[in-house]
Amino acid sequence: MSKVTSSTLIKFKKEGKKFTALTAYDASFAGAFDSEGVDVLLVGDSLGMVLQGHDDTLPVTIADIAYHTACVKRGISRALLIADMPFMSYSTPEQTMTNAAILMQAGASMVKVEGGHWLLESVKMLTERGIPVCAHLGLTPQSVNVFGGFKVQGRDAENAQRILDEAKALQAAGAQLLVLECIPPQLAKAITEALSIPVIGIGAGADTDGQILVMHDVLGISSGYIPRFSKNYLKQTGEIRSAIRAYIDEVAKGTFPAEEHTFN
Ligand code: KIV
Repeated sequence: MSKVTSSTLIKFKKEGKKFTALTAYDASFAGAFDSEGVDVLLVGDSLGMVLQGHDDTLPVTIADIAYHTACVKRGISRALLIADMPFMSYSTPEQTMTNAAILMQAGASMVKVEGGHWLLESVKMLTERGIPVCAHLGLTPQSVNVFGGFKVQGRDAENAQRILDEAKALQAAGAQLLVLECIPPQLAKAITEALSIPVIGIGAGADTDGQILVMHDVLGISSGYIPRFSKNYLKQTGEIRSAIRAYIDEVAKGTFPAEEHTFN
């Protein structure tokens, strides 16, 4: 099977083929997800919550993400590997270049950053210097303290318009992929249709080009609660590889996410 690249994902978008993404943090799980056909693996800063047991993602460091990126890289052969840039590791363009380089050298093929207009210069600089960027809008967990909690974003017309404008501006600055988290499905659909780059949703309805979930939620082993937008596929199938295949299958068929997983 040939490696998944940003060109593969653009081809999927053009063909209307829904693709699957999952977080991964180690070689063994990543290898299983890769061989079952998950297209994109993200070393998310969600590791701060699901691996390290923190209440949010803020304590995660570049060294943490670099370590787990190197682990995941050793386990996979096909999936596109994205590494999250953690909180305050990309607050200036210079700091962004230095830290993104560390993640690329650890094995990532793309880095992900949370935010809109303030990031445009960094996105342009990264792309021009050979580092592909996945942008992340909507509920951006590193801003949990600004939002006053993990809250659905883009519910009112003004915020919805801002998110749409930021998505277009990030694409124009060079972003090659976009994650939309916890926004109304109508807004996610409008953004997906307005952009030529692929859009991956989490809690954003079924009309994005791809879906992403946190692996611990898919396997029903998150401490605390399973978010409404997620689904415990292990409960449904009883076996890890079957759970991953069920997730891929439901995304491909468009049956996940269903109405109960979206924020209308
Ligand atoms: O950190 C993470 O796992 C993420 C996904 C939820 C998109 O950013």
